[in-house]
Amino acid sequence: MPDFEGRLELTWTNKHLRLLAQDDGRYEWVTPPDYRVAEVRLLRDVGKVGAVAPDADRARDNLLIQGDALSALTSLIELPEFAEQLVGRVKLAYLDPPFNTQQSFMHYDDALEHSVWLTMMRDRLAQVKTLVAPDGSVWVHCDDSEQAYLKVMMDEMFGRENFVASVIWEKTDSPRMDADYFSGRHDTILVYRKSAALRIRRLGDSNDVPRHYSRTDEHGRRYYTKPLRAMGGQGSTRKARPTLYYPLVAPDGTEVYPKLQDGQDGAWRWNPQKCERDKDLIEWIRGRGGWVPYFRIYASALTLRPPETIWFHTEVGSTRTSAREVKALTGGTSFATPKPEALIARIVALASDEDDVVLDCFLGSGTTAAVAHKMGRRWIGIERSAETLDTFAVPRLTKVVEGKDPGGVSGVAPWLGGGGFRVLEVAPSMFAAEGGEVFLSEWVTNGKLAEVTAAQLHYEYEHTPPFCGRRGRSRLAAIDGLVTEDVARLLVNALAEDDRLVLCGTSVDPAARDLLRAQRPGSTVRKVPQAIVRSYRESARRRPGTAPDPNANGRSEPVAAAAPS
Ligand SMILES: C[S@@+](CC[C@H](N)C(=O)[O-])C[C@H]1O[C@@H](n2cnc3c(N)ncnc32)[C@H](O)[C@@H]1O
Repeated sequence: MPDFEGRLELTWTNKHLRLLAQDDGRYEWVTPPDYRVAEVRLLRDVGKVGAVAPDADRARDNLLIQGDALSALTSLIELPEFAEQLVGRVKLAYLDPPFNTQQSFMHYDDALEHSVWLTMMRDRLAQVKTLVAPDGSVWVHCDDSEQAYLKVMMDEMFGRENFVASVIWEKTDSPRMDADYFSGRHDTILVYRKSAALRIRRLGDSNDVPRHYSRTDEHGRRYYTKPLRAMGGQGSTRKARPTLYYPLVAPDGTEVYPKLQDGQDGAWRWNPQKCERDKDLIEWIRGRGGWVPYFRIYASALTLRPPETIWFHTEVGSTRTSAREVKALTGGTSFATPKPEALIARIVALASDEDDVVLDCFLGSGTTAAVAHKMGRRWIGIERSAETLDTFAVPRLTKVVEGKDPGGVSGVAPWLGGGGFRVLEVAPSMFAAEGGEVFLSEWVTNGKLAEVTAAQLHYEYEHTPPFCGRRGRSRLAAIDGLVTEDVARLLVNALAEDDRLVLCGTSVDPAARDLLRAQRPGSTVRKVPQAIVRSYRESARRRPGTAPDPNANGRSEPVAAAAPS
């Protein structure tokens, strides 16, 4: 037998590189250790709506985050306050990115170069995967523009054995008459699990009642009826089923026997005992030929069934439905590509339970967050465009909280309002570069040095002067200025007996380093931002699968004056 080696893999231009998201929505290729993609950005509070937790517990709240998905996801993973609540805990991630249709929509552009799109998705999916729970799932909405490539890339990332299904959503209800070849009628939703622990719930509960359950009883439960008389076939005659031929008493007291169309004796479906036991299910209707008994079949009595892979617009809505939903919420302003609430509700119902965390990092008009909120889930929504958030997601979710959103799934399960959410924004970069050198941005030196340093070095930010962070027995201190021997001595004196210190400063006297090492072994002094940039570079080299940096002295190492740390 010949030996084979290698694996099935999708390759593309610059696959070994990373992308830096620009503020205007474009992307720039950079090498993996580039400090600008590795940086952990702070998440700043910019608003609160409804009931939220105290500030110290903000990671437990529903979060609407403005910023690029990669930066926001990295912050959720790397900032200890969020990581504790969210890493490995997101039950459902639904992503509806721009599909790369090469069009420009009113609120965002959808025309990336093929390799840029794949890299953009890969890097964000890798972070999403870190956040998803072992029994969680990732659903990515796409169309034929990139579906086949995305599938192979996701196989590589999640493992082919973790591909669950590709769901076809019938997105339109009529053909486009000007189509060149085919009028596209569907989108695809690729479903992956994190591990074999995933459980997909069954359809048939109150979140997903098929249309033929068209009637509603006095308690709001949906049902349809069937005649109590056996209809057709051998078993429908008195001769075949003599025990099922007996009289039932109609509402006016008359006795009714099962009769076939031709007047011959028929049979009921139920025996007398069952008729007595389930008499509440029997509904009498008076027709031309007299009283006819029917029985009710309730949606909740359905045998729960696994979801199928084709979802029709009659069940979960179409793009027409979602356009209507958004316009109703905004008073007429339309968003280019919203998804119907019923579609998202089905996904939420299948892949999560109440109180689970649902994540959408391409939030758009806010559909996923609105539906998750109304279905009692916790949610995190990330959207790059501040305008989209201001025009659509924030007002929409505010209406949800206030109980002023009667549309979408609110119609199926009455929604009266409640809860709340925080609005956060991804802070600007801590770095500024000029002439090949990296400096701290002005906003950082104006009072935020401690917080950004703690974030980059994975310390829990703790404002307990003279310290600003803790990780186990290690304390962190950040000095916006020169670290001298006196500073080092003062800090050592303030340390608890077993604690060590990482002391950061924007410039460092080498004598301070020697003093610290001698007085508290295991402690270090670091010059920022250079030491941070260097640690990003080193950790990218150590990361498995990271391609060698082909430009070690170029973009990725723009720190010309890196002093020893
Ligand atoms: C197809 S729309 C999502 C529609 C959404 N499902 C809804 O129902 O309204 C894609 C959204 O992703 C946003 N987006 C694109 N690139 C992004 C990025 N890198 N980070 C965060 N959001 C991004 C776009 O601004 C756009 O609002």
